[in-house]
Amino acid sequence: MLSTLLAAFWIMVPAYVPNPVAALCGGGTPVDFGRNYSDGRRLLGEGKTFRGLVCGVLAGVAVGALQIWLAGTWGWTFLPQHTAASIIILPLGALLGDMGKSFVKRRLGKNRGESWPIADQYDLVAGAFILMLVFDPSWLFTYVTWPILIVILILTPILHRAVNIIGYICGVKKEPW
Ligand code: CTP
Ligand code: MG
Repeated sequence: MLSTLLAAFWIMVPAYVPNPVAALCGGGTPVDFGRNYSDGRRLLGEGKTFRGLVCGVLAGVAVGALQIWLAGTWGWTFLPQHTAASIIILPLGALLGDMGKSFVKRRLGKNRGESWPIADQYDLVAGAFILMLVFDPSWLFTYVTWPILIVILILTPILHRAVNIIGYICGVKKEPW
């Protein structure tokens, strides 16, 4: 049980890092360049910026590289093995999932920062795994087994909530979700 939890966490670290880092260093030009969709609402909204996207992905890659280094140095063969591909695909997928969610959120008429339960928590998991399915399915099926997936689905909303409350208290996030 503990090893499943540890493996699930180890797999997800590169996907968990980008969102808080984007919240910390985001700002500037929005990814949608301020444009509206045909419904007259923003394509993605003011909360999705290039700086957040780039910093978030780079931070995820950096932490993933550290994980590869740690596992190699200490011989942690009991953990899922990250690769050059996995530490790029997971953070990129996490933030693409976040942007995809914002696109749908705007279409539903929800304003920037408004809460959308379930989607707000699982966007990164869906984005990361869909991108992994496209570019490296064998890695996905090797490490994300059913028990691991179930643990990820339980762990993610808990960590998401905890990190957002910390971000809210520190004044980084405007809402505690
Ligand atoms: N952020 C960013 N660029 C991104 C993702 C996030 O700059 N690609 C920053 C923004 O400052 C954003 C904050 O991180 O406000 C929190 O992210 P998130 O909660 O995903 O965005 P929201 O502002 O809540 O917008 P939305 O309603 O579209 O989810
Ligand atoms: Mg939000």
